[in-house]
Order: sequence, then structure tokens, then C-alpha cells
Amino acid sequence: MSTKKQLRIGLIGTGFMGRTHSNGYNRVPNFFPELEFTPVLKAVCSRNAEKVQAFADQWGYESIETDWKALIARDDIDAVDICTPNDSHAEIAIAAAKAGKMILCEKPLSRNLAEGQAMVDAIEKAGVQSTVWYNYRRLPAVTLAKQIVDSGKLGKIYHYRANFLQDWTISADLPQGGTGLWRMDSEAAGSGVTGDLLAHCIDTAMWLNGAITDVSAVTETFVKERMHQLTGKVQPVGIDDACIFHCHFANGSLGLFESTRYARGHKALYTFEINGADASIRWDLHDLNRLEYFDHRDESIVRGWRSIIVTDGDQPYMNKWWVGGLGIGYEHSFIHQVADFLKSLEAGTPCSPTFKEALQTQKVCEAVIESANSRSWKDTNVDGDFV
Ligand SMILES: NC(=O)c1ccc[n+]([C@@H]2O[C@H](COP(=O)([O-])OP(=O)(O)OC[C@H]3O[C@@H](n4cnc5c(N)ncnc54)[C@H](O)[C@@H]3O)[C@@H](O)[C@H]2O)c1
Repeated sequence: MSTKKQLRIGLIGTGFMGRTHSNGYNRVPNFFPELEFTPVLKAVCSRNAEKVQAFADQWGYESIETDWKALIARDDIDAVDICTPNDSHAEIAIAAAKAGKMILCEKPLSRNLAEGQAMVDAIEKAGVQSTVWYNYRRLPAVTLAKQIVDSGKLGKIYHYRANFLQDWTISADLPQGGTGLWRMDSEAAGSGVTGDLLAHCIDTAMWLNGAITDVSAVTETFVKERMHQLTGKVQPVGIDDACIFHCHFANGSLGLFESTRYARGHKALYTFEINGADASIRWDLHDLNRLEYFDHRDESIVRGWRSIIVTDGDQPYMNKWWVGGLGIGYEHSFIHQVADFLKSLEAGTPCSPTFKEALQTQKVCEAVIESANSRSWKDTNVDGDFV
């Protein structure tokens, strides 16, 4: 019989993220045995009973629900994990907070700033632990980038550049809305690439380089009408298919961000680069164990971009895995986030990004959309610390 304290999880949504999170809960006890808390997969919820039972059997959940309200009402759930499309985040999170549950919510926090603010108000009123799954922070190479920036090695930072490029929506025949395609429906998603992809870039950027103060954006919807999968009717497309913005950071540096789902050949090209007076770093999701680093202070005849394979035991998270030189993958960012959440319970500290921190990203997303719609610069009113 384990002497560990239990964190009894109720997970809502059994799609892509339901799987990555379930894998995280299952793997953490094996790889982080020192933690005081252990996740217990108490219940999983999705609307189709047969499918959710199959999911429960596959991933090891003790029970199922087909109504998230029933899951939240249960006394044997400590933490609610929201893995549903964006239009249900606010309603579920606010109800869960009222029921006194801890909340782990998928990104983006919400469809828009007003919903996000209501979510922050609800968890603050309830005084419950919260975190948002901006999981890329927990890839070892990205965490190492944070350590390098915080150490001051880059010197004064001048530029931050990020891309998130995909190509899966180019066909004009692709419907919008419903299962698998809710990202194409602005009612369900809130926005297009801005909330879906750039939110990741913005979260990482402000974590690494501090607050974004103002933005100037352009968006485009290349296919103006698509059939709605649920109604069968051809309807206007309300999402941004592509978004480009530039911005100022509070530290005086300039930012340049681009995202699209129309970059033929790219499936998930997420890259960032930071240029400082003394050194630069860059990272690419397709090569996620590598961080590239250039230091101008190196002796000139050997100066050049270093390729740091982030797999050694003294690099972030890597003492939990195999031996130096052997890489890990995308799924590990979620395992690390579960471990960090459990650690935060042990330490009695917040688990970043909290709802309040994720609201800062929401502010930038909102300013980006407003800027594009009004063809003018917009202040973000970001006011957070990025720890
Ligand atoms: N952190 C990341 O990198 C990342 C990656 C992908 C998606 N996401 C986010 O995760 C969330 C889910 O995305 P996904 O790709 O897993 O979607 P998905 O379409 O694969 O899965 C959504 C799931 O939610 C269920 N669902 C929908 N409405 C529900 C309701 N009312 N009650 C119960 N279940 C309901 C669906 O049946 C499905 O199982 C979104 O907010 C998305 O932005 C984050």
C-alpha cells in the first residue's frame, strides 16, 4: 500500500490532449518517484459512454462520466483537468472552482479576455491551485533557454523572433466546426492561429523575455466560407488563418511573430530565436533536444553557433531520463508539467503558468486581434511577473 498522498484526477475530454495528459499522469510515478503526491486516475469524462469507457480502459481510469457537471460534483475528485475545446474552458473552470477543485486547464486559457478574466476571478475567489498547459516551457532545451536568458549571458536583448507554421487547412473543401474541426469555427475556438498557435509562442516569449507592451498585427482569412460540419450549411469563416505581428517588449527589445496553417510543407514548425548584445540562442520544435547558442565572447577563430544537445543529467529534467546523449520527446513536456504540478502542491507554491499568468498571454492575443481588425497599434496592458 503506497504511503503517498493522492491527487485524484477527473479528466474531461478524451481527444489529443486527453491522451497526452493521461500519459503524463501514468508516467510520473515511474520517473519522479521522490514526489510526495501521486496522481490517481479517478474518472474520465466525454459525451459518448462507449468511447469514454474504451478510453478509461486504455489509460487506466477507475470510472467514467458523460456529463462534466457530474464529474465536478463528485467528492472523490481533487483536481479537474480540462482537455475540451476552448468554448467550454470558462464554464467548466468556473464551476470547478466553485466546487473547490484544483484546475489544470488546456491552453489557450479562454476564447477571449473577458472569459479569461472571469476564470481568474473564480479561482482567486475559491483559492484553488491552477495551471495552464503551456507545455513547451517544460521541454529541457526550452527550460535551458530560460536559464541562459536569466543568467544574463545574452547581454542586452534586442530581438525576439518566433514562428509557428502548419499546412493542414489549405484545402477549401475542409469543413469547419464539430469533431476534429472545432479549431476552424470561431465560436468554438475564439480565434484561429492567434489563440491556437501564437498563444504558445507568446507564452514562451514573455516567460523568456518579459512583458510584451504593444502590438501591431495583420491577419488574413484565406478561405472566406466553409461548410459547417454540424449544420451542413456554408457559413462565413470567422477565424484568422494566418497572423503576423510585431511588438515591443518592456525590456526595449523588438518582437516578430508569424503563424499560419497555410505554409505548405510545415506540420508544426515552432521556432524561436533571441539576439542579445553578447550572445544569441535559437530553438526548433522539430529538433527539440537541441539548443543552438552563439557567444560573441568566444575566441574569434573558433567562434560559431554551438549545437547543445540537451540530454545531460545536469541539464533541466534530464536526470530523470536515460543517459547523456539519448533524447526525449514531445510527450515528456506533459510528464514534466504533471511532475511540476505535484511538486507545487508539496511546496505550497503556484505552478506556472497559473490562470493569472496565462491571462497575460490572453491579453496579448486580444490586442493582436484588435490591432489587426482596426489596422492600428494596440497596448496589451500586460502586468504580470514571468517566473
Ligand atoms: N498544449 C498543447 O500543445 C495543445 C495541443 C493541442 C490542443 N490543445 C488544447 O487542448 C484542448 C483540446 O484540444 P484537443 O486537440 O485535445 O481536441 P480534440 O478535439 O482532440 O478533443 C476534444 C475532446 O473534448 C471532448 N468534449 C468536447 N466537448 C465536451 C463536453 N462538453 N463535455 C465533455 N467532453 C467534451 C470531445 O469529445 C473530445 O474527446 C483545446 O483547448 C486545445 O487548444 C493544447
